[in-house]
Amino acid sequence: MSSSQLIRVGLLGFGTVGKAVHQSLEENRDLIEARCGRTPVIAQIAVNDLSKDRGASVVTANKELVAKKLSRLTELAMARKADLRFEAAVGAGIPIIQPLMHELGGCRIKKMKGILNGTTNHILTEMRTRGVPFDEALEEAQMLGYAEADPTSDVDGFDALYKIIIAASLTSGTQIELDASPCSGIRDISLADINHEEGLGRRLKLIAEADLTGDAPSVTVGVQSLLHSHPLSQIEGTENALWIEADPLGEVTLSGPGAGGGATASAVLGDLVEVVRTIDQGCVSPPWPIAPSF
Ligand code: HSE
Repeated sequence: MSSSQLIRVGLLGFGTVGKAVHQSLEENRDLIEARCGRTPVIAQIAVNDLSKDRGASVVTANKELVAKKLSRLTELAMARKADLRFEAAVGAGIPIIQPLMHELGGCRIKKMKGILNGTTNHILTEMRTRGVPFDEALEEAQMLGYAEADPTSDVDGFDALYKIIIAASLTSGTQIELDASPCSGIRDISLADINHEEGLGRRLKLIAEADLTGDAPSVTVGVQSLLHSHPLSQIEGTENALWIEADPLGEVTLSGPGAGGGATASAVLGDLVEVVRTIDQGCVSPPWPIAPSF
């Protein structure tokens, strides 16, 4: 192998996701080399040091950063002809960003509704199916590596808000502001509430929703009581799902593993393969600008 085939990769962060990416890259090296036509090598691992990243293409799973700065990051990526990819930021292992940008790129997205946080869906599922108290189910999600370092973001709905803001900003072409988006979580939900709704044939789920039909796109996150027959009622544990209504498509639901090291690493590596594969083309992603909301 000649050194010109090597592509230097900097890994920023080495927690659950960083370690899983590192391990999967090593384990799938042959496959990734064959698909990229080049060899991505991890040249540097840095924690809390973004200064090493200037001017390079970026693959990130950081939903808070992308949700708050999508417009600015897109502008920078375009100006520098660098790639910006964040498939892992929404729904971890479920392909959502690429389908929204490419396969559904010719559609007018009208509404989206999803379960976009694995931790809270795991907690609600454990409370309902095993009668596990809230705190114990949360601890379990933390031990399994699903919850954020500060699980407030999961439990109070912000993690799901970041994800629906990314999806809705991308499809509407407008940066949606966090402050303008109503958000609540599952902290106040008791076992009695869950059982009461179940008795009525309904299920409590933390739902992230976007309405893109008005003059300005709007998003909300909060607990909703869904009929058992509703497809999102059947999404259990750390699984995530996003239902999309679009013209001329109609309706489509994307679902799969929404949290955890392996699922997130899968999306990061997919992005990495694309960045490395197209590195000579000055490829820019997202393919269209996201206007600031002011
Ligand atoms: N804490 C997040 C969740 C991880 O539970 O969904 C995946 O983004």
